[in-house]
Amino acid sequence: MALNLIIIILNNRRKLSQSFKKQSMVQKDIHTIVLEYESEYELEPVDQKLVHQAKLSTDNAYAPYSNFKVGAAVLLENGKMIHGNNQENAAYPSGLCAERVALFFANSNFPEIKVRRIAIAAKNGEDFTKLPITPCGSCRQVILETQNRFELPIKIILYGTDKVQIIEDASTLLPISFNDQFLKKS
Ligand code: THU
Repeated sequence: MALNLIIIILNNRRKLSQSFKKQSMVQKDIHTIVLEYESEYELEPVDQKLVHQAKLSTDNAYAPYSNFKVGAAVLLENGKMIHGNNQENAAYPSGLCAERVALFFANSNFPEIKVRRIAIAAKNGEDFTKLPITPCGSCRQVILETQNRFELPIKIILYGTDKVQIIEDASTLLPISFNDQFLKKS
């Protein structure tokens, strides 16, 4: 009898939590659309130029620990190109990725000018990577925050010698930007 009662209570609780889930749970699908090219020379001229700048920028990276030199080039709305590269540190988390070096420089020196595109290239030792590298989670967050700040999609161009990938809108990289909760849109 007591056992029956416990089973009834447990069943009811399960039914309750199931109906709660049905009401509140929403499935959200994130689709990242990636345009893939066999070579950088298939890109539009401005993107080719940006990739070239990102590649050049790898040479100024300070990466004695990983020997992985990353370059990023940011295109601003006024046509200006900003470079950045990874800056490592013996105290590992004190270093910074190329993407954030470039974006923070752009946003700190030209806070009123919208960021439109970013190209990223990387050298493993002496050679550019065959496949494109993708920005880490923190860099994605910063790219997305910049996109939201200027309310314009940022085009991301990922360079590799075997293929080049383009993501037209950073919002497809993360389900929601952390700052959506804090920035009030008028
Ligand atoms: N790194 C970047 O600068 N950007 C990326 O997108 C991936 C990784 C850097 C961080 C670190 O200095 C080195 O590459 C190895 O992870």
